[in-house]
Amino acid sequence: MNIGIFGTGVVGQTIGSRLVELGHSVKMGSRSADNEAARAWVKSQGKHASHGTYADAAAFGEILFNCTSGRGSLSALEFPKRGDLNNKVLIDVANPLDFSRGMPPTLTVCNTDSLGEQIQREHPVLRVVKALNTMNVDVMVHPDRLRSPHDVFICGNDKEAKATVMRILTEWFGWESVIDLGDITNSRGMEMALPLWISLQKKLGTNIFNFRVAK
Ligand SMILES: NC(=O)c1ccc[n+]([C@@H]2O[C@H](COP(=O)([O-])OP(=O)(O)OC[C@H]3O[C@@H](n4cnc5c(N)ncnc54)[C@H](OP(=O)(O)O)[C@@H]3O)[C@@H](O)[C@H]2O)c1
Repeated sequence: MNIGIFGTGVVGQTIGSRLVELGHSVKMGSRSADNEAARAWVKSQGKHASHGTYADAAAFGEILFNCTSGRGSLSALEFPKRGDLNNKVLIDVANPLDFSRGMPPTLTVCNTDSLGEQIQREHPVLRVVKALNTMNVDVMVHPDRLRSPHDVFICGNDKEAKATVMRILTEWFGWESVIDLGDITNSRGMEMALPLWISLQKKLGTNIFNFRVAK
């Protein structure tokens, strides 16, 4: 499959590398066509990796991943032509974190709204599915790094889009438990889990852990 990734940071690179490893073709997008991190990533990945602007990544991808900083996500999504977003599934991994006052970060949006909803509202032609934002990037694409059972949450308004994401998570990345929380308003809880994740990271002294839901 051709996949477009918005974002040149560790998340874009890690998800992109895993997708290339699985045999997909990936175009990484950023604000500029000659982003140095993207160029180095392409060099390390071989012929199934390429890079360009956010617009190029949107035009290329049958499926899109939003791996931009939460504060930059809405502006990143202004780059693509509307037609290149039309009806595509966007897997939104971003968290609306504000580090401007140091650690721990605060959320730029919460309680009555979320980044996932803002993206869906601004781009009704996209089918936004929030996923993978509640764990460290290494766990996202290698859930088998943890030996005990653990969960990934998804939410979004489009059932077919969520079924596609469910397949990507289970069949491509190897997730055994995917919990569909419902429509895109559930992004609020998924994003507001971040302060708890940060407290746990401090307490446990590692990034390699995840949430597990017991009934
Ligand atoms: N690190 C993790 O383990 C983890 C786990 C879960 C979720 N997340 C979330 O995943 C996302 C990516 O994290 P990251 O650490 O890989 O990267 P990051 O440093 O948060 O973001 C880097 C990307 O954001 C883009 N960006 C920044 N400001 C922008 C703006 N004003 N307009 C457009 N684009 C802008 C950059 O564009 P350029 O390429 O043009 O510079 C770059 O591609 C974040 O939202 C983060 O909260 C991270």
